[in-house]
Amino acid sequence: MRSVVALTLALSALAAPHVIEKRAQCAATLQIAIDRANSLQSHYFNKNGTGQYQDGSLWTDANAFEDLHNLMLGANNDAWSTLAETSFIGRKALAGSATDWNGVLAGSNDDAQWIILSLWKMADYKYARGKDGSPYVNAARTIYNIIAQEWDTSVCGGGMWWSKAHTYKNAITNQLFLYVSAEGYIRFREQVFLDNANKEWAWLSASGMRNSDGLWNDGLTSDCKNNGQTTWTYNQGVIASGLGALFAARGSTDTSLLDQAEITLNATISRLTVNGILKEGCDDAKSSGCNHDQQIFKGIWMKHLQFYLDRASADRAARFKSFIGAQSSAIIHYGTNANGDIGNVWYAPSQGGSIFSPESSTSGVAGQVAAAKYGPC
Ligand SMILES: *[C@@H]1O[C@H](CO)[C@@H](O)[C@H](O)[C@H]1NC(C)=O
Ligand SMILES: *[C@@H]1O[C@H](CO)[C@@H](O)[C@H](O)[C@H]1NC(C)=O
Repeated sequence: MRSVVALTLALSALAAPHVIEKRAQCAATLQIAIDRANSLQSHYFNKNGTGQYQDGSLWTDANAFEDLHNLMLGANNDAWSTLAETSFIGRKALAGSATDWNGVLAGSNDDAQWIILSLWKMADYKYARGKDGSPYVNAARTIYNIIAQEWDTSVCGGGMWWSKAHTYKNAITNQLFLYVSAEGYIRFREQVFLDNANKEWAWLSASGMRNSDGLWNDGLTSDCKNNGQTTWTYNQGVIASGLGALFAARGSTDTSLLDQAEITLNATISRLTVNGILKEGCDDAKSSGCNHDQQIFKGIWMKHLQFYLDRASADRAARFKSFIGAQSSAIIHYGTNANGDIGNVWYAPSQGGSIFSPESSTSGVAGQVAAAKYGPC
């Protein structure tokens, strides 16, 4: 028996370059996440057979697919086992070289990277179930090669452009490139990924986009100064996952990278909350002004906190446990309506101002998935 187990492990290691983090997860919280994800899928997904969400968008849909695969992996569940091949981006991946990714991405370098992350999670799930994840990995690599060309040294000394229009350098595109590159190195051990991650952090850390509060503003002015625009929650999460992955990619020695991540995570908790609960500036229990993009940001903060904690020590994870638990509780008690959908307002009961959409439901699901792994049980 022992040799069979060893052989199986060896084969799965060959098939899946990325070792999934193993950690006991909270069954009750996972069940809540599964229930809300079922609502998300039945209320919004694939209404027209397009593999998209009603009122969704390319990048928010990609996050939803990532969340559901992350949930299936965490819960050891197969509720959406054919989601990858049904999804819009999964179909594009399965079409191989027939897919014109430049056309799909339409010059959007941040959207491209959300898609890479989603395709990697689809591949992780397929491999974990003994299936072939390579079409997803291959498509992600094609996209990575496209966006890696979007690094530019002629303006602001470096950084990736937000889009192919080459008019804006912003935080999210570059934070994602840090995370995707460091994670790419951990997965594939190709030097180009580590070189890009190091290059990105060297530039980002000197870019001025993090303000004196420890929060990242939206981007840079044309003369390369912090533009003072909104400190969205998601920016404060994706920098942390990127630094956690860079820490791991460099061999887990430079804990100052984790301290840098926690400056921003701590600032999120102290400055972007009301009553200890995350609040996007546009969230309002009486009348929210959030657009579809903004409705998903808090869940992305939670998901990327999870990805950060996957690389940090148990001591560090313990510091966030009660905060994560409070978010989970708020999503249940304040965020969720009688239809089982989750709105954008978590910090208080809705007084008619919470918006219910696939993005806000996805955001809440991501929050519960993170809470199942790192919150109290
Ligand atoms: C589905 O069709 C309806 C009606 O044409 C349209 O409003 C909606 O945006 C479509 N949804 C998707 C996900 O394509
Ligand atoms: C973040 O806050 C925790 C307390 O919750 C503290 O232990 C930690 O040192 C802080 N990290 C940084 C980098 O300030």
